[in-house]
Amino acid sequence: MAKRPRIAVVGSANIDLTTFTNQFPKPGETIFGQKFDLGFGGKGANQAVAARLCGAEVFMVARVGSDLFGPATIENFRKQGIDPTHVKQVEGLSSGVAPIFVEPNGQNRILVVKGANDALMPADVDAAAETLKSADCIVLQFEIPVETVYYTVEFARKHGIRCILNPAPAQPVDLGALKDLDYFVPNESEAETITGSPVKNVEDAKQCAEKLVASGIRRVIITLGANGSLLAGRDGSEHVPPFAVNSIDSTGAGDAFIGSFAVFLGEGVPEKEAVRRANLYAGLSTTGVGTQKSFYDRARFDAEWAVRS
Ligand code: RIB
Repeated sequence: MAKRPRIAVVGSANIDLTTFTNQFPKPGETIFGQKFDLGFGGKGANQAVAARLCGAEVFMVARVGSDLFGPATIENFRKQGIDPTHVKQVEGLSSGVAPIFVEPNGQNRILVVKGANDALMPADVDAAAETLKSADCIVLQFEIPVETVYYTVEFARKHGIRCILNPAPAQPVDLGALKDLDYFVPNESEAETITGSPVKNVEDAKQCAEKLVASGIRRVIITLGANGSLLAGRDGSEHVPPFAVNSIDSTGAGDAFIGSFAVFLGEGVPEKEAVRRANLYAGLSTTGVGTQKSFYDRARFDAEWAVRS
């Protein structure tokens, strides 16, 4: 039987307000959308839920607001079987929220208001140190203060813990502070913003990944949506193709990729195989609406993998 990885996510929790629409209003105009969905989201929380559904033991370090979403988010972690000991409410701040717009082809646009996520500080990482030290892998994103991300990367290095960073949403990055990372996993647009190199196809992704590797980052995975992903390191790069799926909402697919990849790696699955599996897990998540609620549990995933691999 595969080892059960222990994964800690130091990251965000949001409430997703998803509107499905055929068009967007012009300034001053009111139009009708087609459908609405309210759900638990946030890149950190989504990655934690994906990892949990894939079978890992998961710990969350996060901050939520002193509004009605705060306790509901903590309760959601509990319900999902994620340890929320280090998820705290912050007085006077709103919870993170994300108005999301999904077009008929499944493409999404996301606006994040960080709220309490911005109050997760290096001292909070220290307060969770004992839990973090017990993890096989720490997973990070960019919806919390960047100083907390850099601090946690350094913490992981000091304690020999595998560390995966999803630099989303993209922002200016000190690549030097990230050279101790094990995996840097942007999508096309994040890779483009961070390196300044356009990523329109697999060839562009290769060049962009080479830049990131040259800056000192050991392993880079650029997720390419419907084109699969690109795995790169000092030994070169390789395109890992996608699986065909009937996509209706791509929101959270990157999170599904990262949460599941952390688990497959932690189980000892070889790297490229772990990327292939994560490609399928992410692809399957786009066949349902929303983020966490569209993620497959392990039994459903294994059944699909058995057929498609
Ligand atoms: O990656 C999808 C997530 O991005 C959403 O759940 C939203 O909350 C934003 O964080």
